Amino acid sequence: IKKLADLDCNGKTVVIREDLNVPMKEGRISNDKRIRAALPTIRMALDKGAGVVLLSHLGRPTEGRYEEQFSLKPVAARLGELLGREVPLVSEPADAGKVKPGQCVLLENVRFLKGEKKNDPALAAQLAGLGDIYVMDAFGAAHRAHASTEGAVRQAKVACAGPLMVAELAAFAKVLDNPARPLAAVIGGSKVSTKLGLLANLLAKVDSLIVGGGIANTFLAAAGYNVGASLCEPDLIPEAKKIMETAGAQGKQLPLPVDVVTAKELAPGQKATVHAADDVPTDEMILDIGPKTVALYEKLLAGAATVVWNGPVGAFETEPFGAGTKALAEALAASKAFVVVGGGDSVAAVEGYGLADKMGYISTGGGASLELLEGKVLPSVAALEARG
Ligand code: 3PG
Repeated sequence: IKKLADLDCNGKTVVIREDLNVPMKEGRISNDKRIRAALPTIRMALDKGAGVVLLSHLGRPTEGRYEEQFSLKPVAARLGELLGREVPLVSEPADAGKVKPGQCVLLENVRFLKGEKKNDPALAAQLAGLGDIYVMDAFGAAHRAHASTEGAVRQAKVACAGPLMVAELAAFAKVLDNPARPLAAVIGGSKVSTKLGLLANLLAKVDSLIVGGGIANTFLAAAGYNVGASLCEPDLIPEAKKIMETAGAQGKQLPLPVDVVTAKELAPGQKATVHAADDVPTDEMILDIGPKTVALYEKLLAGAATVVWNGPVGAFETEPFGAGTKALAEALAASKAFVVVGGGDSVAAVEGYGLADKMGYISTGGGASLELLEGKVLPSVAALEARG
């Protein structure tokens, strides 16, 4: 894959597809991490003497028409603040292409353009044709085969990856391709059904697989425990059993929680009690891992050289059910292992605890990091590879 860092951009127009799909609350950006993550790429192109056209989507508008709530206006303003220069928002692709060296403009939400999500070749050609070099840096949207993420990469005169994309792929390669061992995965989140592919792919690679959250409930049920009123997917018990059997046959560790935190309902300030995993009250639900389980998982993780973490191990957003997730985040932050955190909720947890700087790599990708961990090839990465 070609890299922006290696290309001569002087006097050229560089089109950069970023994932500036930031969370918004009442018209304001509630987390600007993705904008900050794009800054080094934008600065690199400008420092190399290019004129920059930025592209991104925001949210999921009805394709092909302008919708105020999905406008990139707030993003352009924030970019301007962070870059210390005005970043004009242009509505028409044709106007974006008129950028001069040293200038940086942002094209309005690419999903307002007809054909973006269908990967229309004519739109892809138009976007690629806005500049001399097309930089695919939107790791968070790399699992979408859209006109601006995949089609334009295939059609551009010169296509390359930006430094954010390069860093993301390198971090996941350190986990998936040739990890320093032992390799441990911590997989939490609510449903086994959304992570079956990920569990299967990771099981083939890891030395130990640690489960938490609702996912662990289905495994506990598969091991014959009564999980009371917990979130559990009975249909997936056979799958969970299969995963445990495979782990056993391959000599891999797949410890289950030995104690859990339960309550009558998932609501703030509920009375929470710790129970042994085989003693969950019938009318209560498991909402976090217990202290003995935390200690058990911490011990296992202390010996790991590489860790990938996807999904919280409890209902961390609702107190008092965040202790397990917080303790694991602290253990991983203190560990010498190379730790990659991927997936929206675990990233939010780590950021919330102020531990982001202490991890090896925090991914900007939600769905994209999930698909990579499932072993899938991301369409826009495949397109970049095809371009050499
Ligand atoms: C994300 O937030 O995961 C990416 O920006 C992709 O957004 P999408 O799921 O709407 O394609």
